[in-house]
Order: sequence, then C-alpha cells, then structure tokens
Amino acid sequence: MPPFKSLPAAISPSFEIETLRLVLRKPRLADVAAMARLANDSAVALMTGRLPFPYGEKDAHDFVRYQDEARKTGKELAFAIECKDTGDFLGCIGLRFPKRESAEIGYWLGQPHWGRGLATEAARALIDHGFSTLPIASITGECRVINEASRRVMEKCGLRYVNSGLQHAPARGGALPIDRFNLARPDWASFKAWVPAVVREAQPPLAELAP
Ligand SMILES: CC(C)(COP(=O)(O)OP(=O)(O)OC[C@H]1O[C@@H](n2cnc3c(N)ncnc32)[C@H](O)[C@@H]1OP(=O)(O)O)[C@@H](O)C(=O)NCCC(=O)NCCS
Repeated sequence: MPPFKSLPAAISPSFEIETLRLVLRKPRLADVAAMARLANDSAVALMTGRLPFPYGEKDAHDFVRYQDEARKTGKELAFAIECKDTGDFLGCIGLRFPKRESAEIGYWLGQPHWGRGLATEAARALIDHGFSTLPIASITGECRVINEASRRVMEKCGLRYVNSGLQHAPARGGALPIDRFNLARPDWASFKAWVPAVVREAQPPLAELAP
C-alpha cells in the first residue's frame, strides 16, 4: 500500500525545485530521447538496481508514464534533472516510499555530466524538500558496494552507512550486494541549523586596558 493517499496537497502536480545550477522538474515525454541516450550506457544503468540495460526509448517512455501515475498515487516522486542554463536533460532523481515512515532516494546522471557535484546538488535539494514537506522520519539510500561515486554522494548529503546486504534487482537478473545508508530527520535538522561561527581577534580584557 502506498504510504500517502496522494502526495501532500501542498505539492502541486507539476512543482519544480530550483538549485544553483539545476531545475528538478517532472519528467516529460520530451525527455524520452535524451533519457534513452544517456541511460543506455552500461556505466550508468548497471550501477542502478532498476534501469534496464540496454535502455531504449520505450523504456524511457514507460518510465515517464509510470512516474506520472506514481506521483498521483503517492508511490514515488521522480524528477528530471535539468541544467538551469541550457534546459538540457541531465538525468533523474527521485524518492520512493517503501515504508510509511521513510523515503528512499535514487539518482543517475548521464556520464558527460559526472564529476561536477551535480548529483550532490540535486540530492541535497531533494532531501531538503522531502524532510520539509513529507511526514517521514528518515531518508535512506542504497548503492552497489562497488559504487564509490554514489556512496560519496550519500556521504556528502549526510547519509550514514548502516549495513550491507543483497538487493533484489530484477533488471540485473538477480540479487546485488549493496550498502545501505540512512539520514534521520533529527540529524538533518541539526545540519540545517548549523550556523557558521564567527572567528575574530580576541579583545583584551578591560582590566588590561586600564592605565
Ligand atoms: C553516482 C552519480 C550520480 C554521481 O554523480 P556526480 O554528479 O558525478 O556526483 P558528485 O560530483 O556530486 O559527487 C561524486 C563524488 O564521488 C567521488 N567519486 C567519483 N568516482 C569515484 C571513485 N571511483 N572512487 C572514489 N570516489 C569517487 C567524486 O570525487 C565526488 O566526491 P568529492 O566531491 O568528495 O570529490 C553518477 O556517477 C552516476 O549517475 N552513476 C551511475 C548511476 C548510479 O550509480 N546511480 C546511483 C545508484 S545507487
């Protein structure tokens, strides 16, 4: 059963999240060609548990249609990651709700866009959005044990290693060894409240100023 009858009313069906360099927005049929081109890459698809490989336009089309429905029923909240300057489609990010009290984050970017901090920027924005708008106690993540880049993205977003196990991954034809990560709401709230301290020259005590 999906955790929410529908995603909260405060979330309009087509809302967007803007970051410094990105816009996270609802996936569209216009994304299909770019999505298929970027996801049809073993370095991308085989690191995920869900993307079929090879990945064609029909897979991308089915994904966009499925996400439209999943958003309405509150099962998933997926976004296309768009470059703010060019409007180019770069990849996808989303939250799934396997349990009522938590959301699971997943993401991928086309290989030409790796290594610029974009996944971290998108994930931080979505984590903030998730905790700000949804009644969840934690955000979890999983990655293949060999996926150092994804592990690092989660660490940079404050998720901590929890344990390892096997993930049922039909698109990979079996089970995959994975590491699991978690960010609890109180920890996220603490990071967000963390205001930088001011470093300054110490003032001499008043007694030392006296003639
Ligand atoms: C995982 C992925 C989204 C990361 O995207 P990205 O925009 O390059 O990520 P970022 O630049 O925000 O951060 C990547 C971090 O991993 C590090 N990294 C990348 N490859 C690494 C490697 N082989 N070993 C160790 N660290 C690595 C980077 O140095 C960076 O860390 P830093 O900022 O401390 O230097 C992208 O590689 C991808 O789409 N991979 C295929 C799909 C996938 O793995 N999805 C996640 C499934 S769980």
